[in-house]
Amino acid sequence: GFGSVGYYYWEEENDFIRYAVPVDAKEPTDSDITIKGWVRTIRKQKTLAFAQVNDGSNLGGIQCVLNFDQLDEASQAAIDQVTTGCAVQITGPLVPSQGGQQAVEVAAKTLRVVGLCPADTYPLAKKRHSLEYLRSIAHLRPRTNTIAAVARVRSQLAAAIHSFFQSQNFVYVQTPLITASDCEGAGELFRVTTLDLEQELPRLNNTDRTVDYSQDFFGKPAFLTVSGQLGGETHACALGDIYTFGPTFRAENSQTTRHLAEFHMVEPEMAFADLQTAMENAEQLLKYTVSHVLKNCQEDLTFFSSFYDKELLDRLQKLVDQPFARVSYREAIAYLQEEIAKDPSKWQYPHVEFGTDLATEHERWLAETKFESCVFVYNYPAAIKAFYMRANDEDNGETVNAMDLLVPGVGELVGGSQREERLDVLEQKLRDNNLNLDDYWWYLDLRRYGSVPHAGYGLGFERLVQYVTGIENIREAIAFPRYPGNAEF
Ligand code: 4AD
Repeated sequence: GFGSVGYYYWEEENDFIRYAVPVDAKEPTDSDITIKGWVRTIRKQKTLAFAQVNDGSNLGGIQCVLNFDQLDEASQAAIDQVTTGCAVQITGPLVPSQGGQQAVEVAAKTLRVVGLCPADTYPLAKKRHSLEYLRSIAHLRPRTNTIAAVARVRSQLAAAIHSFFQSQNFVYVQTPLITASDCEGAGELFRVTTLDLEQELPRLNNTDRTVDYSQDFFGKPAFLTVSGQLGGETHACALGDIYTFGPTFRAENSQTTRHLAEFHMVEPEMAFADLQTAMENAEQLLKYTVSHVLKNCQEDLTFFSSFYDKELLDRLQKLVDQPFARVSYREAIAYLQEEIAKDPSKWQYPHVEFGTDLATEHERWLAETKFESCVFVYNYPAAIKAFYMRANDEDNGETVNAMDLLVPGVGELVGGSQREERLDVLEQKLRDNNLNLDDYWWYLDLRRYGSVPHAGYGLGFERLVQYVTGIENIREAIAFPRYPGNAEF
């Protein structure tokens, strides 16, 4: 067995423990601890060597002092093999640190080099690499402070999202990744096809001829999903409150810092609910998840704030403490027009009117300058929004019950709406959008049989990671970013 003291575990008899010493240990120990990790740096002197070892549990790792006199023979010999990047297992007590960088260090008694790392070809040097370079070695970049910290924060965010919804009895539903419908109607679909029989099968040595690959496998064109919403609605209209949290795909040919071709969306859907409920829920979710990381990821967030975004911690605390602003689309347009009129040359898209799809610069101005807070913009023109959004009766459907949440630094983080629950209105909307009613027969059934007002939203998970870490580019917010021209790993 093994016991735990504070933050770290130590081994007794067996080799069962996968991780030892989360390295923010502060107190010296009488007994030995074992650290298993990768060497970040190694400094060798005549009878002494200092290895900074990181096991992934925190930012910097821990200093291990390799004093020749205190090492057994095998360990002394192993020192020669220690290079930056190699995997080691080091055992010894934690003692007060001489250097002062950290409270304690490992006074090594044994050193094992578990995996060598040839210094001449290892792509991660001691110096700081550009994030762009690190993208080209996405398989090794989790070994850097920045990417490892993103991974830890991301994991905590995901856990907080589940715990938020579970605590409110939302049912977690997995909607399909392969779909026949284009939820957003934006035509940014990846088509799913089988391999070409003649060309590909011999190469893959596949002898299964029972499937007629020359036809569409599913009997109709199929695509990777752009949103789990439509599937989510089927379950909300049966279970009440549900959420999905899974990958979504968009063949968006844009090289921006906010778009990925493969990203993750959190999509709650609530029955007997209106747009107001959706906005309240989104605000609560964000406050909950951000408080969670402020509490549980202190070291990583402090790191991000000092290296990437000085205002990060203030901004996050503000999100938790301040009510989100709300403004109708019409009002937002008026504010923008007024501001742009002062100096149109400052804007890339100075022409803004009712019907304009807001650009990132507009969204960011609203959140960062006008409201200085997260802001919901609601009641968008029907013409620029998807077919399923509920028409507003007050203006004969010129606007729909839709909202976007704009946040400082990122722009749009959430998009949602109340759904059109009236069968005849929805059918007309499908026709107006040149969509085939037959393709949506099951979606229309939800309105045919026991229809209820319902609402939901989609939160872009990587944009949340971007917001919470303050990193500039969404390509650092996901382990293996997919974007035009890149699917290497
Ligand atoms: O506003 P969107 O397109 O909304 C929907 O797909 C709805 N069906 C959601 C719903 O109501 N259930 O996308 C929702 C969010 C955006 O606000 C943005 O944060 C994120 O998904 N998003 C992207 N994130 C990264 N890369 C992309 N290409 C994204 N497209 C949207």
